[in-house]
Amino acid sequence: MHKRSILITGGAGFIGSHVVRQLVNKYPQYLIYNLDKLTYAGNLENVKDLENKPNYTFLKGDIVNEDAIKSFFDTHQFDAVIHLAAESHVDRSITNPLEFIYTNVIGTANLLQVAKTYWADREGVLFYHVSTDEVYGSLGTTGLFKETTAYDPRSPYSASKASSDHFVRAFFHTYNFPVVISNCSNNYGPYQFPEKLIPLMINNIFHSKPLPIYGDGLNIRDWLWVGDHVDAIDVVFHKGKVGETYNIGGNNEMTNIKLVHMLCDLMDKKLNRPLGKSRELITFVKDRKGHDRRYAIDATKIKNELNWEPKVFPQEGMAATIDWYLNNAAWLENVTSGAYQEYYKNHYQG
Ligand code: NAD
Ligand code: DAU
Repeated sequence: MHKRSILITGGAGFIGSHVVRQLVNKYPQYLIYNLDKLTYAGNLENVKDLENKPNYTFLKGDIVNEDAIKSFFDTHQFDAVIHLAAESHVDRSITNPLEFIYTNVIGTANLLQVAKTYWADREGVLFYHVSTDEVYGSLGTTGLFKETTAYDPRSPYSASKASSDHFVRAFFHTYNFPVVISNCSNNYGPYQFPEKLIPLMINNIFHSKPLPIYGDGLNIRDWLWVGDHVDAIDVVFHKGKVGETYNIGGNNEMTNIKLVHMLCDLMDKKLNRPLGKSRELITFVKDRKGHDRRYAIDATKIKNELNWEPKVFPQEGMAATIDWYLNNAAWLENVTSGAYQEYYKNHYQG
């Protein structure tokens, strides 16, 4: 019997590794292929536990490379794609926008084009594009992003993701190519690369290094436990309606300063430091260029139509995240050595 063959891109990254793990373990009847270029953000340690699973295969490759993608489709006859591979860090997009255009725009268009060719006569296939709430721009003090909110991307990263979303929808409307899209808020949890706010703060608190807060620290993000995002991806992949978009969010808006205070206090307890000690490390630094003020998601559609909602409370999720980083010091040490040191120096001390 033909087993459903699923290509997951970016599966050695943060969210992708959790998606791959859930699908490999929960659906032994699927063949899961994890395609990743292994950029600075991709790490096979993130999926080490899956190495010997019979329904799991790692494929090293670049989504921009048409020949490589064609050859993977030839060999593995994918029935579905869950596309997460991307350049994902806003700060890096400000210093190097072209890399974001190559991977996020051209890479996505390349995957779409190859899949369209292979799936010309096929039923039951699906291209699932995983995207971000940043495509909607920045909110004032009120309001929420809905699926119908007009796109207004403001960083090179969000512009590249918005462009990729447009290509995915264009393939649906023009060629009747079967797609589904989700746009999610900020994720946190194990295996997130410590360039992003939460793991960067955890690492710096641990080492008693300054905690750099951009601007006034009052920018707001809507934080979601990565496992909740993975459950949402699972449900959208299996039950989402072709051609539709689903917003995914945590119902969990927090200013950056409040979040960092929470991390400091939780870590003071875990590290047996006097309460308030880690907060002394907070340093307000120059703001991010074009820093979006507030993101917040209205996730009513996915709740009503697909019965998904976040399950993990912030205090619980943050504590579990801190525990994971403290218990995986070797992982953190590994990803913060080498090129990371140079990045950190140029970005924060340059
Ligand atoms: P990440 O940076 O941790 O991982 C990205 C992965 O993609 C890495 O393993 C990297 O090696 C791989 N990759 C990069 N360029 C590639 C290329 N050209 N070919 C093949 N692989 C390549 O990112 P993440 O935070 O896990 O985000 C995954 C996806 O989810 C992205 O599409 C991102 O836009 C989206 N997203 C992220 C968040 C978040 O909070 N992190 C929220 C919403 C949506
Ligand atoms: O909203 C979803 C998006 O969330 C994803 O699409 C992106 O891939 C992901 O990186 C994330 O983008 P943000 O820019 O919101 O995340 P980041 O962790 O970089 O920053 C979160 C907030 O913290 C933001 O307001 C900037 C601020 N910040 C960040 C860093 C790294 C600081 O104040 N200091 C820092 O050192």
